[in-house]
Order: sequence, then structure tokens, then C-alpha cells
Amino acid sequence: MAGIVIIGTQWGDEGKGKATDQLGESVDYVVRYSGGNNAGHTIVVNGETYALHLLPSAVLNKNVIPVIGNGVVIDLGVLYEEIDGLLARGIPADRVLVSSNAHIITGYHRVIDKVTEKFLGKRKIGTTGRGVGPAYADKVNRVGIRVQDLFDESILRKKVEASLEQKNALLHKVYNRPAISPEEVSDELLSYAERLRPLMADTSKVLNDGLDAGKVVLFEGAQAHHLDVDFGTYPYVTSSSPIAAGACIGSGVGPTRIDRVIGIAKAYTTRVGEGPFPGELLDEVGEKLRSDGGEFGTTTGRPRRCGWFDALVVQQAARVNALTDLFLTKLDVLTGWEQIPIVVAYDVLGVRHDTMPVSQSDFHHARPIYEYMEGWSEDISTARSFTDLPEAAQVYVKRLEELVGVRISGIGVGPGREQTVMIHDLL
Ligand code: IMP
Repeated sequence: MAGIVIIGTQWGDEGKGKATDQLGESVDYVVRYSGGNNAGHTIVVNGETYALHLLPSAVLNKNVIPVIGNGVVIDLGVLYEEIDGLLARGIPADRVLVSSNAHIITGYHRVIDKVTEKFLGKRKIGTTGRGVGPAYADKVNRVGIRVQDLFDESILRKKVEASLEQKNALLHKVYNRPAISPEEVSDELLSYAERLRPLMADTSKVLNDGLDAGKVVLFEGAQAHHLDVDFGTYPYVTSSSPIAAGACIGSGVGPTRIDRVIGIAKAYTTRVGEGPFPGELLDEVGEKLRSDGGEFGTTTGRPRRCGWFDALVVQQAARVNALTDLFLTKLDVLTGWEQIPIVVAYDVLGVRHDTMPVSQSDFHHARPIYEYMEGWSEDISTARSFTDLPEAAQVYVKRLEELVGVRISGIGVGPGREQTVMIHDLL
């Protein structure tokens, strides 16, 4: 067992940080392979809370080498802020390795992210406003700035100038905004270079060498399956590939080296930003799930939209990502309900769908069809084995397993690292 991928199976915020951290003791490298500081992991260790956006969450484990792969877009100001914050708390975060091929989020990406959202008005995506989408757009348009460009000043200045030429015309003529100075952007990027030099590496080689030597590499997904640019609820998605296959593209490790794909699913469903969400509860039930689960974004503080567990959503993630295991989080949040509904099908204009509809229009019209499970009232936060759970909670978990078709190997019963029920080893 050497290459393990962890991904979110819903719309993000499933608590991947906790599962990753759980494995952290046994792995040698932890790699972020997609997204940027739009992500947010909250990890509680010994009562201390850490909120990370860009660094792999296992950075907290001193025995692990954290890696930021080529598929990530990096805001260097945020990276240094995060490293400094952890250094101040005694965590040697400056050991992170950064791919020389990773693209950089600059100030102009953040400006464009915000103005385009404003311009879209009612059709906005609800992005995190961190410049992630525009940075990926530049990468695909071949006008991006990469980590390695910071070490060749004349090339960097030329690239920034070329990248800004079109954008300044757009900012000025379409969005009525002041143009951005290429000199100022280049100066700012160059000011980051010296600190970046010791971190920069051929991370694909580092990881493949590690695998050759029998080391364990954990690929830590950010965002989630349904925010994937190909398989998510397009266009209400992020601009990268959070799916398991993205781990290969975003790290330079081939697919035959991936041994296990662990999907993380919350015991209910949440989503931030715009986009269809058939099981969304807009009433006091949704409100209670939000307050019981503390469902407010780690990155933007936005309240998350809430609904019951949607089996169709997780089923699709199981298929596309060939999940080997499912890790269920926040089961404790469901304590106290007399009945717990599960979305088991959709009604689309009178037609029953047992899998996610192939067309986005149908998905927009989907209404949930529920199956009702018995709830439990016992405190489950101290459960450590499956049989510690009340009967009704066991039946609920088993039903989810059956509906998704993937074995549930771990269950989160509280925010602490130790508040976990392990059923099957993840390694
Ligand atoms: P962007 O990634 O900032 O471009 O935002 C695109 C969509 O992805 C928006 O709906 C965001 O709310 C959502 N999104 C991005 N990152 C996360 C995350 O880490 N968790 C949940 N949703 C996210």
C-alpha cells in the first residue's frame, strides 16, 4: 500500500482534514494536488484549532513531508502567512516542498475573480473570491505565471506584461476599473522569490522516488467531486480537478501507483456558493442542521446550505472515483432527531430517477424522494468502535453503505482527532 487518495464526495467541507490527519501518523508524504486557498480545513489537535487553506493539513504532523503539487494554484502571500502562523505555534511548516510547475495567483487574479462575479449578477458562481478560477484560466490560456518564473527576472517581467495586456484592456473598457501596473505586480512577485527558493522542488520526482523507496504518499483532495470542473454541477464548480484522477495530473504520479481511494462524506449534505442542490432544506430543519453542525465556511465564513444525506450524490462520486472506502463524518451532528431522512431518488417533473440525471436541466428540477430512518438520542461522541453506537445509528450507517455501494471504514463522531470510530484500517 503506497499511494492513497482522499477526496470529498459531496460539495466540499466534508471534514477531509480530519481523515487525512488520522492517517498522518502512518504516511511519509502528504500532497495537495488541486485548488488553492479556496479550500479550508479545520483540524482540532489537543484542543487547539488550526484552520488551513493552502498547506496540506498533515503539516501538523512533524514526521510528514508536506508537498504542494503542480496542480495547485498558489497565492504566495497566503502561503507565507500560513507558514508564519504555524511557525509561531511551534510547527515547522517551512519544510513544505512546492512544485516548480505550480501556478501563482497574483493580485490581478483576485481582482478579476471579484469583478467578473459582480458582472455576472444573478448568474454569479458564488466563488470564494480568492482568484482561483482566473489563475486556472491563465494556466489553460498559456499566460500563467509559474513558481519557477520567479527566478528569472527578465522572463517574469515579460510574462506578467503579456498576461496583463489583455486583462488591462478588459478591466478598463468592460469593467470600468483602473489598469494594473505590470511593474508593481512583478516587483511584488520578485519580493517573494528568495523565501521560495529553498522550498521549490521537482515534486513529481520527489514523490516517485519516495514511492520507489516504499514510502506512503497521501494525496489530499481539496473541494470535492461535485465541484469538479468536469464532473461537478457545471458551471457552479471550481476550476480544477478535485476528483481522484486529478491526483495524478496535479502531482506527476501515474495512475498505477494509486492503491486506494478514500471518499469522505458528511452524514448529511452541505454546499456553499450557488448551484443546484435538490435536497436543500430552506426551513427550520436546515437551520438546525446548520447550527448543530457549525456549518459556516472556514475560508469565507459564509453559512452553508444544508440538507439530509443524498445517496445519489455520493453514489456518483463512488463510481467516478472508484472509491475503495468511505469515511463518514459528523455523525454526532444527527443525534437527537426522531427520524432521519435520506434522499434515495429524485422526482424530475413526475419521473423517478434512481441515479443523478444526465442533464443539468433535469438536475435543476429534481425534487428529493426520501426514505425515513429511525433516529437516536444517545450521545455518540465517545463511541470508538462500531458496536459502541446505538442500534439506530448502526442501522443508519449500514443503510448508507448499502445505498452508496462502498464499505464505510471510519466514522467521525466529534471534531477531536480521537473522536473517530474505525471499522477497517485505511492503510
Ligand atoms: P472558487 O473555487 O473560489 O472559484 O469557487 C467556485 C465554487 O466552489 C463556489 O461555489 C465555491 O463556494 C466552491 N468552493 C471552492 N472551494 C471550496 C471548498 O473548499 N469547500 C466548499 N466549496 C468550495
